[in-house]
Amino acid sequence: MDDYKILLSEAELPQEWYNIMPDLPRPFPPYLHPGTGQPLGPQDLAPIFPMGLIEQEVSQERFIPIPDEVQRIYRLWRPTPLHRARRLEEALKTPARIYYKNESVSPPGSHKPNTAVAQAYYNKVEGVRRLATETGAGQWGCALAFACNLIGLECTVYMVKVSYFQKPYRRSLMHIWGAEVFPSPTDKTNAGRGILASDPGTSGSLGMAISEAVEDAATHDDTKYSLGSVLNHVMLHQTVVGLETKKQLALAGEEPDILIGCVGGGSNFAGFSFPFVPDKLKGKDIKIIGVEPTACPTLTRGLYTYDFGDTAQLTPLIMMYTLGHSFVPPGIHAGGLRYHGDSPLVCMLVHEKIIEARAYPQNPVFEAAHLFAKTEGIIPAPETAHAIKGAVDEAVRCRETNDPKCIVFNFSGHGHFDLSAYDAYLEGKLEDLEYPPEVLARALAALPKVPGA
Ligand SMILES: Cc1ncc(COP(=O)(O)O)c(C=O)c1O
Repeated sequence: MDDYKILLSEAELPQEWYNIMPDLPRPFPPYLHPGTGQPLGPQDLAPIFPMGLIEQEVSQERFIPIPDEVQRIYRLWRPTPLHRARRLEEALKTPARIYYKNESVSPPGSHKPNTAVAQAYYNKVEGVRRLATETGAGQWGCALAFACNLIGLECTVYMVKVSYFQKPYRRSLMHIWGAEVFPSPTDKTNAGRGILASDPGTSGSLGMAISEAVEDAATHDDTKYSLGSVLNHVMLHQTVVGLETKKQLALAGEEPDILIGCVGGGSNFAGFSFPFVPDKLKGKDIKIIGVEPTACPTLTRGLYTYDFGDTAQLTPLIMMYTLGHSFVPPGIHAGGLRYHGDSPLVCMLVHEKIIEARAYPQNPVFEAAHLFAKTEGIIPAPETAHAIKGAVDEAVRCRETNDPKCIVFNFSGHGHFDLSAYDAYLEGKLEDLEYPPEVLARALAALPKVPGA
């Protein structure tokens, strides 16, 4: 077979999401109430999430049907192509076969609408009028604005201040799809006002923007909160990516040896790789690698413990690898990877050594992205570029060992609104930022004491 793309028909779109919960090696550590240290019940989450999503958050059903209306919207761009990166293989002179799943073909340009559409749908059927959310680089805000527009909900986006000014065109997309967008921290919420009072010049962070969006939802009856990553229901919705990839690899007559994704909060990586985890648990030799930036090395240098999901300590406590909820990561261009924690499902699998993690600095990541753009043509998002760097390194290793492995990575989004980052790279102005040990120590010292834990 010498195909460049492996395509599925719309009739082959998965009709169920895969839920990894019943296949975990040990029980999922529950979310805890920050005050009592007791496991949260569904009612504790009801002020900010609709019941349909709360049920999915704790469901033990292995497969959950994708509602018809969600499938109809998915079909605007799904199933997405699986590409064979033949030109990249040639450039690397590798015997490996490299494939990438192209999630950049969605209208907002990334994997994020896979969950945005589902979340907007479950909120709409429960009578919610408006969704509030945060966004880092703007991909998630665009995806939710797009989904709310199609489903018929209003949308408020708290955008991390540094990205609001660095990425004005993502803001434009959100406006076109009808959302209101504020640079966070704002003076519209108690959380935002508190942060501005103690640090007026702050560049913002995802942790801060989450605090603002959660407060907005909790203080308005007709409004719920929507999170673009980290939580179990988000990982669930993203499994449409891995389920399609499995079918496409089977069509190509391939079995994956190595699966790679970038990790911010974990959703594209989880959605892509989780459907393969049962195969690995049954003994298949598959290496599953999550790639993160050295500037925000949650999985590779964080502590596996309970922590808040946000700066203002409004969220439940989550068992995860964390750099500390007070940590403000340096302003690297992969804004979507600047989060102090990670999906508790991804973290558990890393802790259990089923998944491995790796961290890279910006310059080698952009070098790999540049090579990809010159060989395969598509300009990757800086977040996606981390997965590409992981794949390139594995392909080079295959060249050195003359091992024709099958490497598959998730191409989570395009970089058409990240061109200033490429300019900075080409002009040699990108800094390779490490996470200083003293900052790590300070943030970890501020971890919450969990009663009874
Ligand atoms: C293109 C792209 N890839 C990856 C990520 C990281 O998020 P996650 O780890 O949830 O996939 C983001 C987040 O904004 C993104 O925009």
